[in-house]
Amino acid sequence: GSANIGVVGLAVMGSNLARNLASREGNTVAVFNRSPERTHTLTSEHPEAGFVPSEGYDEFVASLAKPRTAIIMVQAGKGTDAVISELVQRFEPGDIIVDGGNANFHDTIRREKEISSTGIHFVGMGVSGGEEGALNGPSLMPGGTAQSYETLGPILQTIAAVAPDGEPCVTHVGTDGAGHFVKMVHNGIEYADMQLIAEAYDLIRQGTGKTPAEIADVFAEWNTGELESYLIEITAEVLRQTDAATGLPLVDVILDEAGAKGTGAWTVQNALDLGVPTSGIAEAVFARSLSSKRAQREAAADLPGPAEAWKVADGDADAFIEDVRRALYASKIIAYSQGFDEIVAGAEQFGWDVHKGDIAKIWRAGCIIRARFLNRIAEAYADDPSLVALVVAPYFRDAVAGAQDSWRRVVAIAAQAGIPTPAFSSSLAYYDGLRAERLPAALIQGQRDFFGAHTYKRVDRPGVFHTLWSGDRSEIETTPSSH
Ligand code: 6PG
Repeated sequence: GSANIGVVGLAVMGSNLARNLASREGNTVAVFNRSPERTHTLTSEHPEAGFVPSEGYDEFVASLAKPRTAIIMVQAGKGTDAVISELVQRFEPGDIIVDGGNANFHDTIRREKEISSTGIHFVGMGVSGGEEGALNGPSLMPGGTAQSYETLGPILQTIAAVAPDGEPCVTHVGTDGAGHFVKMVHNGIEYADMQLIAEAYDLIRQGTGKTPAEIADVFAEWNTGELESYLIEITAEVLRQTDAATGLPLVDVILDEAGAKGTGAWTVQNALDLGVPTSGIAEAVFARSLSSKRAQREAAADLPGPAEAWKVADGDADAFIEDVRRALYASKIIAYSQGFDEIVAGAEQFGWDVHKGDIAKIWRAGCIIRARFLNRIAEAYADDPSLVALVVAPYFRDAVAGAQDSWRRVVAIAAQAGIPTPAFSSSLAYYDGLRAERLPAALIQGQRDFFGAHTYKRVDRPGVFHTLWSGDRSEIETTPSSH
């Protein structure tokens, strides 16, 4: 075979990734799709790419130079297993199969285990950046063996997005499912970022009565400062859009039910399993769920809200908008702090040597959550690799300290005005919980001990204790047990 790399699955993401690969010096790209029409369309529309097309797996595998490398770009799920099995039957030890779909990392761990026993490398790779990123430079999060990365890395470096300092947005994240795990958390943060932006928009609109187009200008302005990011940028674009059919702002004719394909929910499910409080991400996932509960929303539409309608006083609009901007920035810091906590916990649980600073670096360009402040995260981990929480790093500590008055005002106003801000509010509650000297968890331990003899520890001496609640209420010391 003459192709140094192949792509299976030629829907938009696969086609664009194949074109990206083909556009780089030295690559010859084999392409294959289950239905041959897609292959024909791609090769006839892009003769300049010099694709090596195939109509079947035998031909595809034969078109690859050894050691063979193939990237699977199909909708995550059963289809992935089917394609993998076709390739495994034809590949040889040393060949590399890459799954670039949004696979569940548990599936990736399972697949890697099965496939590596045959000597074939299996790499689960997170690919972020949507269609545009796949074509012009995605952020890439490959897992799998370090050995496979020796072959794969140089190819991926040529197609990945390039950060402002010239570094390609790809790194070997860790073994087996590490890449897909980190992509999952990326998506969870993406959900939180989007929800925070949506809450900011809602507050400004309800509070100031500005039109979507006017709020677009606010976001465009924010995008010149510390909030600069892809999601802020596209928010301005969406808000500025007018619906051709009605002449209304497009955002006013889009049905307010947010979809989700599952990666945000996985982030939260795994956070629960790992015991990591990713409350900002969880609220973002739940806010989407709530939006889609049409029947409940209709039934609840006449439930009472605050007696008085709320509007920002004339002349205070700019100050309020600045408060919202700061609240957004502080909440965003919390969401990323929580997301990185989950990465740390996942790495520990599944035995991955994940470099947090490198993750921040490969998210600086190409991906959906790309943002100026990822430089700050990379710096924070470079300054202190054993940093226990992002939010306590000096830069972020100062940023939140500077924002907190605004943040509190915004959450208080939202509560009084009856405007739902689950992500703003829960991020603030998390921040206050984290910094609290004493938490009412002590009372919960007392309650647990009361009804279930679950025992508690004391602040003043070591040991495990139980109060004889149904007896004379004296305290006994117990041996640590399974309680
Ligand atoms: C990316 C995105 C992408 C994902 C969508 C869909 O990094 O390019 O995360 O992988 O498909 O954002 O997510 P939802 O449909 O769940 O919103």
